Amino acid sequence: MSEHVIELQDVRRFYVVGDFVVKALDGVSLKIPKGAFTAIMGPSGSGKSTMMNLIGCLDTATSGYIFIDGVMTNDLDEAELAFIRNQKIGFVFQ
Ligand SMILES: Nc1ncnc2c1ncn2[C@@H]1O[C@H](COP(=O)(O)OP(=O)(O)OP(=O)(O)O)[C@@H](O)[C@H]1O
Ligand SMILES: [Mg+2]
Repeated sequence: MSEHVIELQDVRRFYVVGDFVVKALDGVSLKIPKGAFTAIMGPSGSGKSTMMNLIGCLDTATSGYIFIDGVMTNDLDEAELAFIRNQKIGFVFQ
């Protein structure tokens, strides 16, 4: 498969709250190689949980592309997303 276990390409996640648009992620790109130990750090509200929810296939990006183990997740159906959540991603919540 891919040399990168996680890859984000220009990912945006906007939340519409009434008349406002909250740009939680506004064009994030990253590549995490297989076997890497990576920490995502940033101040409260900088979008860490938003990004983790996208990587974990628990949420859908407003735009951009997300690859998990070389598979683009954008167009997957619920059963395919469930397979990734079950087999590829483990979460320990804070
Ligand atoms: N469901 C939502 N609806 C509207 N705005 C949201 C929603 N979830 C997050 N946000 C906003 O998106 C931005 C990023 O939030 P997020 O929770 O991803 O940050 P975080 O880095 O995980 O913060 P923390 O360190 O406090 O956990 C914040 O401005 C937050 O208020
Ligand atoms: Mg958080």
